[in-house]
Amino acid sequence: MKPSAQPLADLVASKRVLITVGAGGVGKTTTAAAIGVAAARQGKRVLCLTIDPAKRLAESLGITEMRTEASIVDPARFEAVGVTLTGSLTAMMLDTKRTFDELVVKYSSTQAKADRLLSNKLYQYVSTSLAGTQEYMAMEKLVAVKDDPRYDLIVLDTPPTANALDFLDAPQRLMEALDSATMKWFVQAFESGGKFSLNLIAKSAATILRGIGRITGGGFLEAMAEFIGELNDLFGGFKERASRVEAALRGDEVAFVLVTSASPPSIQEVLYFAERLTEAHMPRGAFVVNRFHLPPPRAAEGVTDADALAAITSRGLELEDDAASRIVRAHADAVKLAALDARHLRVLDGASGETPVVRVAELETDVHDLRLLAKLGEVLMSGGV
Ligand SMILES: Nc1ncnc2c1ncn2[C@@H]1O[C@H](COP(=O)(O)OP(=O)(O)OP(=O)(O)O)[C@@H](O)[C@H]1O
Ligand SMILES: [Mg+2]
Repeated sequence: MKPSAQPLADLVASKRVLITVGAGGVGKTTTAAAIGVAAARQGKRVLCLTIDPAKRLAESLGITEMRTEASIVDPARFEAVGVTLTGSLTAMMLDTKRTFDELVVKYSSTQAKADRLLSNKLYQYVSTSLAGTQEYMAMEKLVAVKDDPRYDLIVLDTPPTANALDFLDAPQRLMEALDSATMKWFVQAFESGGKFSLNLIAKSAATILRGIGRITGGGFLEAMAEFIGELNDLFGGFKERASRVEAALRGDEVAFVLVTSASPPSIQEVLYFAERLTEAHMPRGAFVVNRFHLPPPRAAEGVTDADALAAITSRGLELEDDAASRIVRAHADAVKLAALDARHLRVLDGASGETPVVRVAELETDVHDLRLLAKLGEVLMSGGV
């Protein structure tokens, strides 16, 4: 099948959920927001779930740390920069702890049980710091809003994990951490004695645990056992939940947008991720090569000192004496950078299979306002560059 010339426009038209994934800092959040804006311009009612957007971007979207509620971005903000939304854009900052809290309240049989867990010392740690929690909660949130009839399209951003694979492994890892033999054993030790008893613990383990108790203060073991007991009780086994969350990512209405830079490590990572998606029967939508360096004008013929000087004079610029030679060097560097990016991308082109690759050139500045976001959205929808 011939890849579409406008793969992202096709995805926006045909999918209900798009998830941006990729290595840290490649542009997942920006791409998710730009897709959201583009879709809202096409009449879609979009929910954009972002994670830790850059401060200025968050401000442009009207979302700040103080507001974790979903809020419609005021269309007047877009009108002010000449962009008309025929649909709507609702933006929301994903808050891991809050999502976890909501789950606890939702699945607790009684309010008292929920309160006990929420106020447990260890809950604070697990709900914010345990490896995989943020990724897992992003997926939980997705499952919670996936069928919300108020939206036509949901764009989910993923956390700034050092390794994009962490996202797919999160349910498994979280489940292992919470469902592990050690944890179960804690619970049993606690339950069988009615009260947590150190007699039940093997000698060496006891020494270690007393050490922990000393470090963290009294009541640690009791808090731990109580916490694990209630959490297990609450979720009825993370394994089932995790597999349900995973299953939600396999549907026809979901597609992953694999974002990468043109750098070899980032390309390797995104290709590995793409492979994992295929293995897990999860749909790859498109690759986006973000911040790609295009060749500058006159890349083939080059720029001489005389050309640079002529350009400076014709613009009436008064620059330092060595300006012309610096322009020549900068031009040569830009040509090299573009050639390098193009070479690196051949690896991706060779391995991307039927998944289309969209190239997005580096914009002149960071993408921090609605005008730039809309511009990036246009580039993405039109097939790139
Ligand atoms: N095409 C682009 N041109 C110029 N700047 C860009 C472009 N895409 C993204 N940026 C800038 O790159 C920075 C990183 O982007 P972004 O926050 O979207 O990355 P991320 O993958 O979400 O990072 P993290 O992994 O930390 O969540 C931001 O400052 C953003 O404005
Ligand atoms: Mg991000």
